[in-house]
Amino acid sequence: MTDTLRRTSEERQAAIEANAAALGIDEALVSDMVDDFYARARKDPLLGPVFETAIGDAAEWDAHFDKLKAFWSGVALGTRRYSGRPMPAHLRLPGLTHAHFERWLALFRETLDELMPNPAAADFFHDRASLIGRNFQAMIFTLNQ
Ligand code: HEM
Repeated sequence: MTDTLRRTSEERQAAIEANAAALGIDEALVSDMVDDFYARARKDPLLGPVFETAIGDAAEWDAHFDKLKAFWSGVALGTRRYSGRPMPAHLRLPGLTHAHFERWLALFRETLDELMPNPAAADFFHDRASLIGRNFQAMIFTLNQ
């Protein structure tokens, strides 16, 4: 019984790829999305200093972009390049507030509205970021208080 209900990983992967194809999402779009979002975030008076302090020099920025592209590619396309742990990376950032998360999501929305080929693709990424952001906040503001 459970065997018929349980999808194999191949079936799950095929469903993720079909969803991405239907939404018009591919690696090039994920890459542009990350580049565009960080161009906004680095200029932002609230978020910019947090990133510059945590990441710093150009080589580290390149590594960060690669990591974020791998992360979002995993979310949208089911690829398995990302092997990091996002929660601890945010737990150790000093001084994060709910306002940082609100601004992060607002800037991400601007990127999505500009770059995504259709509203469903924009909502796909926004919903996931919003959920992840809520989980980060639940953890950060419980453990760091
Ligand atoms: C709301 C949704 C958010 C998502 C989906 C997200 C996603 C990620 C991911 C996947 C990483 C890579 C973690 C790793 O493997 O090292 C990361 C790193 C980072 N994020 Fe976020 N993030 C979010 C919110 C924020 C906010 C609000 C800030 C505040 C400015 C922030 C600042 C950073 C910084 C500075 C790093 C680099 C940490 C390090 O390398 O030490 N993030 N983020």
